[in-house]
Amino acid sequence: MKNSFRIFATCDMGDSINLLRSRGYDVEVYPKPEAPPKSLILEKVRSGIDGLLTTLRDPIDAEVFAAGAGTLKVVSQIAVGFDNINRADANKYKVPFTHTADVLTDATAEFAFLLMGSVARRMWNAERLLRENQWGFWHPYLPFLGDEVAGKTIAIIGTGRIGLSMIRKCSGFDMNILCYDPAYQNHDFVQGIQEIKDLIFARGLVKEKSWIKYVELTEALAQADFVSVHVPLLREGESKMPTYHLFNETTLRTMKPTAYLINTSRGPVVDEQALAKALREKWIAGAALDVYEKEPLAADSPLRDPAIEDRCRLYPHFASAARITRLSTDPTKGMAGRCVQGLIDVLECNYGGDITKMPYVVNKEAFGG
Ligand code: GLV
Repeated sequence: MKNSFRIFATCDMGDSINLLRSRGYDVEVYPKPEAPPKSLILEKVRSGIDGLLTTLRDPIDAEVFAAGAGTLKVVSQIAVGFDNINRADANKYKVPFTHTADVLTDATAEFAFLLMGSVARRMWNAERLLRENQWGFWHPYLPFLGDEVAGKTIAIIGTGRIGLSMIRKCSGFDMNILCYDPAYQNHDFVQGIQEIKDLIFARGLVKEKSWIKYVELTEALAQADFVSVHVPLLREGESKMPTYHLFNETTLRTMKPTAYLINTSRGPVVDEQALAKALREKWIAGAALDVYEKEPLAADSPLRDPAIEDRCRLYPHFASAARITRLSTDPTKGMAGRCVQGLIDVLECNYGGDITKMPYVVNKEAFGG
């Protein structure tokens, strides 16, 4: 079947774009690696495109939906997070939008786990020492030591898909696990992990019994050696339990001075001024971040302060950046494939045209779901 849908993609998505073209779609791709200016998105939407392929860098709000009133049929985002898309505005204009949950769950959790190891075992400091030709001797504790991850206690803040995947990885390292989630608790999953922990102890495969449980936030923060953040960004007014600046002076001060904070969720969940202060004043031992209040990270960000450099690992929103996860055209494996499939579902009226049945559509409530 040939289609004549017009699409604007705010970035290239590899072969998945060709897949649309092979189905007859007329696809224009913004050619630069940076996000297009909003004025260009508005111009394209006003020109009557049927679908918009977006990234988390594009502000998709009332202005965009108004520009597409009567013509824009779908917004399809290559990300699991969609805090850049105003859900209320999408609903008002009855435009379904899709995201790419599931396919990046393990890649993101794996990255969070590796960040934890990288900051706690001081990988960057150690490599820099060698590269700067400062490795003059082997010594029991000089020039510095790191902290082990295995057997420690981690707080998982947010037990959605990525938080649960992180729990599985941490279980493999015999960590004790404190779970906190303001909105969604998966007690079955937690019980399953505890049963595995009990079994490997009973069979003599580990020396110490480890545990997992749900607790309140304060308890999680006060007891954990590592705190890993996996909540969506919800601003005031978007939820009864907003997550904006969930990590602030008060919550950071609740953590142990020996604890590390890992954030692979969304930058604004952490107040960066407060975190830089916490690192400078050693309220906590270190942090590893993949996401920021404003991306890319500003040249004058307090997180770049050389005084905290040895305790603060910074990565460029990179957690899902694994080859298959980002670019596979297979919607069960790749973000690009899933993003494009979400668009196709809506435009080609898959699932009998019932948007509430389309697996990648987020705002089903606007269509009676
Ligand atoms: C990445 O941050 C995503 O939301 O997919």
